[in-house]
Amino acid sequence: MDQKKIYNHAKISKDYARRDYLDKAEQQIIEELKNVLPKFNMLDMGVGGGRTTGYFLALVNSYIGADYAPNMIAECKKKFKNKKVFEVLDVRNMSKFSDNMFDFILFSYNGIDSFGLKDRETALKEIKRVLKNGGYYSFSSHNINWKGLYNLFTFRNIYTKLVNKADNGKNLLSKFIIFLEAVFINIWLNFQNKSFNIKFHIDRLRKEGQGNLTDNSLNGKAKIFYTSYKSQILQLTKSGFKNISAYSINGIKTRDENELNQGGWIYYLCQIEK
Ligand SMILES: C[S@@+](CC[C@H](N)C(=O)[O-])C[C@H]1O[C@@H](n2cnc3c(N)ncnc32)[C@H](O)[C@@H]1O
Repeated sequence: MDQKKIYNHAKISKDYARRDYLDKAEQQIIEELKNVLPKFNMLDMGVGGGRTTGYFLALVNSYIGADYAPNMIAECKKKFKNKKVFEVLDVRNMSKFSDNMFDFILFSYNGIDSFGLKDRETALKEIKRVLKNGGYYSFSSHNINWKGLYNLFTFRNIYTKLVNKADNGKNLLSKFIIFLEAVFINIWLNFQNKSFNIKFHIDRLRKEGQGNLTDNSLNGKAKIFYTSYKSQILQLTKSGFKNISAYSINGIKTRDENELNQGGWIYYLCQIEK
């Protein structure tokens, strides 16, 4: 299913609009940039429901929040009344913006993983174009080498998550219904990934360093691009980015893959050299 449709769904955009926190790695990145942020013209790409807006709006010189899903932008406008800083825009075509416009682009919470390798390269080209020389790009991306990745697909894990989520999952009948739902999701994920041995499929993607997986996020309807730390560094380097730092789910800046692979996603901060 087209990811834009999923993100644009009223239920999903409202859910994103309720979020209002920063992850440890994001806090760490703000801390590192705190002396330069006041001078920065910032683009908060894939802003979703404005989770990061409240933090950055107050810190930077100028701020634009953009998203390709109109309902996400509508939620931002509701949340930040009087702030005319939101635009409906696709990162792959930012012709609305001139070259060298921004000092800092954030694409938080794995928005960049909404599409495959080719589009990811197009997005990087556009990001490079609208960034000033030396400008910063920060984002996070799904980690194909995450130690917990197999577990996302096990029946036990899917079932437990459904039980924990259900308010009325306590009696026998509701447990049985949840059981059937978990069976269905389990089969559905195998089907979506065209593999009845997900472990084998993940191992193959790990060898390739990247690839698409339908996990159970976004109701199991979206292909998510997963990549390894090494492949991500390679792609950024090839695209002209330098001074690349990575941060683990624990907010630790590191090159240690053991630490980075503790988390389902890895955070990055880098600078463009033009
Ligand atoms: C996982 S959500 C994260 C939202 C927000 N950044 C947050 O941290 O809560 C990813 C966001 O990226 C947006 N997105 C995905 N692909 C995009 C694209 N090609 N151009 C602009 N926005 C995009 C989606 O609409 C969605 O709002």
